[in-house]
Amino acid sequence: MKNLTAQLRNLGASEDWLAAWEKTENSPVAACPDFLHSGYIDEACSYLCMAAENTVALREAVAEIKTDPDLSRLLVFCRNSLLSENLSPKNTEWPRLHELPCLLSGLLGLLTVLACLPEIRKNYGTAGIPEKVVRDTLGDFEVKLNAFRKSSGKPGYVISRWIGNFIRAEIFWLGRLQFALAAHNQQFMMLRRKADGIKLVLAEEGLPFRADGFWFHPDDPSPDSWTSRFEETDRYFRGNPVSAHGRAQRQDLTLSKTEWECVLKREDPILGVHIPAQGKMDHALCGESFSQALDFFPKYLPEYRFKAFTCNSWLLDPQFDGFLPEDANIVRFLKEWYIYPIAGRQSGILNAVFGKPDVDVKTVTLDNSLKKAVAEHILSGGLWQGGGGGIITPEDLNWGKQVYWQQKIASL
Ligand SMILES: CC(C)(COP(=O)(O)OP(=O)(O)OC[C@H]1O[C@@H](n2cnc3c(N)ncnc32)[C@H](O)[C@@H]1OP(=O)(O)O)[C@@H](O)C(=O)NCCC(=O)NCCS
Repeated sequence: MKNLTAQLRNLGASEDWLAAWEKTENSPVAACPDFLHSGYIDEACSYLCMAAENTVALREAVAEIKTDPDLSRLLVFCRNSLLSENLSPKNTEWPRLHELPCLLSGLLGLLTVLACLPEIRKNYGTAGIPEKVVRDTLGDFEVKLNAFRKSSGKPGYVISRWIGNFIRAEIFWLGRLQFALAAHNQQFMMLRRKADGIKLVLAEEGLPFRADGFWFHPDDPSPDSWTSRFEETDRYFRGNPVSAHGRAQRQDLTLSKTEWECVLKREDPILGVHIPAQGKMDHALCGESFSQALDFFPKYLPEYRFKAFTCNSWLLDPQFDGFLPEDANIVRFLKEWYIYPIAGRQSGILNAVFGKPDVDVKTVTLDNSLKKAVAEHILSGGLWQGGGGGIITPEDLNWGKQVYWQQKIASL
């Protein structure tokens, strides 16, 4: 392919990624690596139970790569980079391989991932994860491939930080939901009242909120904003509480440490909950996934003492409650969480619902209840938050009971 390095630069590759790539220029792929041999892709696709049309597309992509030494070298380089520390997408910017001007470009990313399949399987195997869970988990590759096809009309896969979860064997697809090992990286902590187990979320110092308790952006129409305060001493926590419905409260509280303890703070180990695009999110099935997680992690990763399940998603914009029917899966799901505001934007909701971040809701077809709800709120002068963050501690997990939304905090 002509000017491949220049194209990779234009597609967003970082300088260190490019520098490493350029070093491979004088070392063409000497022998055909395993993952470019006929049969490798078939075997990988069969292991992943891929649909026949995807297997065929991947096979054709490999055939095309083999005719172009630069593309073969690129695939080998991408594979090695994905498995490396410094050049992984977590640590440096990758080019948007799917935008390269060749027929197969959409599949370059997935071929890179498949080229790492032996290492990925080995990492899950070393952790002693049952084969069924590994296969289910790696089913995410095809889900992403299909989602790409749905939005762009051709099969594809985008390499991002997300893939690191699989390379490091730190994500597990259990039933309807996926659970990823992670550190709590949000500016909200959860406290527990020792006497009755009641939970309260406090905002950290210096977060900007609107008068209604949602996140404030400087270009928001709301003129009235305020900033959270937080202080922790040996004796108390003082800060702005957040209601379980995701609104920060301007009035601060002082909570004595003899009565309250912190159960989730920054950097604590958590299980990040993800909802793959695989049919509806049936409420009971989601609950079963959480129950599976409660069995699975102590059994297979007993040293991983997670403090909470957390979720950061467009689905957790608490305003869906009130705009969607009470029995919608989205509403039922979000009411199980202790929600806190995030710095999301309305464009995030528009993208998730209409496939574009900047649609004009006056002109698009509103052919389902969610689209209607999103448009209705905007047309009546409302602003979507772009989502929300959610916390559920293992001790509070009682799916279907909306534990936090129903809790009454008396005598604070
Ligand atoms: C998350 C997801 C499974 C929820 O779907 P669901 O179970 O159908 O949700 P609900 O039952 O609450 O849907 C209510 C309505 O919204 C519609 N709807 C749901 N998700 C939609 C979406 N992403 N875009 C447009 N409409 C959607 C449903 O069709 C339904 O319409 P109806 O009442 O007219 O029949 C679905 O949105 C999805 O697959 N999204 C992609 C994955 C994702 O976004 N994960 C979270 C990443 S942070």
